[in-house]
Amino acid sequence: MTDRLIIFDTTLRDGEQSPGASMTREEKLRIARQLEKLRVDVIEAGFPAASNGDFDAVKAVADTIRDSTVCGLARANDHDVRRAGEALRGAAAGRIHTFIATSPIHMEKKLRMAPEQVIETAVKAVSLARTFREDVEFSPEDAGRSDTEFLCRILDAVIKAGATTINIPDTVGYTMPEQFGGLIRTLRERIPDSDKVVWSVHCHNDLGLAVANSLSAVMNGARQIECTINGLGERAGNASLEEIVMAVRTRQDYFPCDTRIDATQIVPASKLVSGITGFPVQPNKAIVGANAFAHESGIHQDGVIKSRETYEIMRAEDVGWSTNKLVLGKLSGRNAFRQRLKELGIVLDSEEALNVAFAKFKDLADKKSEIFDEDLQMLVSDEEVSQVREHYKLLSMMIHAETGETPLAKIVLGEGIDERKAESAGSGAVDATFKAIENIVTSGAELQLYSVNSITGGTDAFGEVTVRLKKDGRIVNGAGADTDIVVASAKAYINALNKLHSNLERAHPQI
Ligand code: KIV
Ligand code: ZN
Repeated sequence: MTDRLIIFDTTLRDGEQSPGASMTREEKLRIARQLEKLRVDVIEAGFPAASNGDFDAVKAVADTIRDSTVCGLARANDHDVRRAGEALRGAAAGRIHTFIATSPIHMEKKLRMAPEQVIETAVKAVSLARTFREDVEFSPEDAGRSDTEFLCRILDAVIKAGATTINIPDTVGYTMPEQFGGLIRTLRERIPDSDKVVWSVHCHNDLGLAVANSLSAVMNGARQIECTINGLGERAGNASLEEIVMAVRTRQDYFPCDTRIDATQIVPASKLVSGITGFPVQPNKAIVGANAFAHESGIHQDGVIKSRETYEIMRAEDVGWSTNKLVLGKLSGRNAFRQRLKELGIVLDSEEALNVAFAKFKDLADKKSEIFDEDLQMLVSDEEVSQVREHYKLLSMMIHAETGETPLAKIVLGEGIDERKAESAGSGAVDATFKAIENIVTSGAELQLYSVNSITGGTDAFGEVTVRLKKDGRIVNGAGADTDIVVASAKAYINALNKLHSNLERAHPQI
């Protein structure tokens, strides 16, 4: 019988630590619902002690999700462990994940603790966590650069204190696949009760080896992988969930285990995370990139027409590319709209919210002949964005662009009950638009990234714009969608300004 490989998704925690990927409670809930649909085993929903906002988000996810375990991260101290325990109180299945650094450099320079003190602190945290939950995970942070003898001692101690999962992080993405697999094997062989716990790995991608290191660990006995949708995460990111899941599934002749993931939900999950965080997916990204199943060369196309397996090792539809179905049209009614939102896991909390979303849908259906699931997702997240923190609101805009003329943008913004107007010339329509908005808001924020993506095919498709702004060390991503990309750009810029303005939006959490 093949073993189960547990998929532990940390998009909502480590993924959120990417610059500007900070999410609101509602955004986390929407992603968590999609992760549950994807049949992820464990959802790490956040770091409850980091802020009240994150405590609320973890609590909301714990109170909502029923088919996946919900996990909260805690440093190895009383306060963090208690906050995680409280946030998880309503969970059907909850896990506390506590960690402390074990590498010489982290213990000496960051923690300023002696190794014995680190062991004592870890044991105390795990014992306390066990008073809240039976399911407790421990991670020796920076294990990839830790001394193996020391790892054996601390892990032996935390297993005795009640840890049920031992997670080995390659925090800085330093190890090589053979070496990392060897580390997992050594720890399992040397630690007396190693067969009483689940061995897990958590690899970062600084050298592009996160997936390779995780899979090497699986071949050496790891049975849980921590990963994120689209490989989102600190710096170069974490191991990507879609790559891990499809590598194991495609090579069942090689791996001694499989996951319970519903792979057809992978592409919808990827699009949802990308839309909410404002991190676009590169076209050549394995599994979820727009070109992942596109054949350009004539020889390849000819081969695929004759027999798909000549150049394809997976089917696009198996990872959810075909779930981009034509769902609704101009004549669809309110009930069909409500039903499709429900099927997509989108719950609007009032009839009024449904009415607003339905009116927007009708508007869109007038402009665009075919409406896909992704359009609905975007339409509703645009609606959520405007409900949550709309200090500035786009009331109207006018663009004048003509060959040989300098583009001009006129903008009317609402700020509270005031209507504020400005105009500006610019080197292009988008530049003029941003300058006109700045003439009103005078944020002085630095524009760090601007990107446009088409959500569905065709020239009438929704264009999705991402804008990243930085001000006083704080980074936010704004997203906007519209069938007109200049309007989408204005919405994205205003969304980012609203995030900068909002107190609700928590800063990028630093551990
Ligand atoms: O990368 C890391 O070490 C972590 C731990 C908190 C598991 O994210
Ligand atoms: Zn990490």
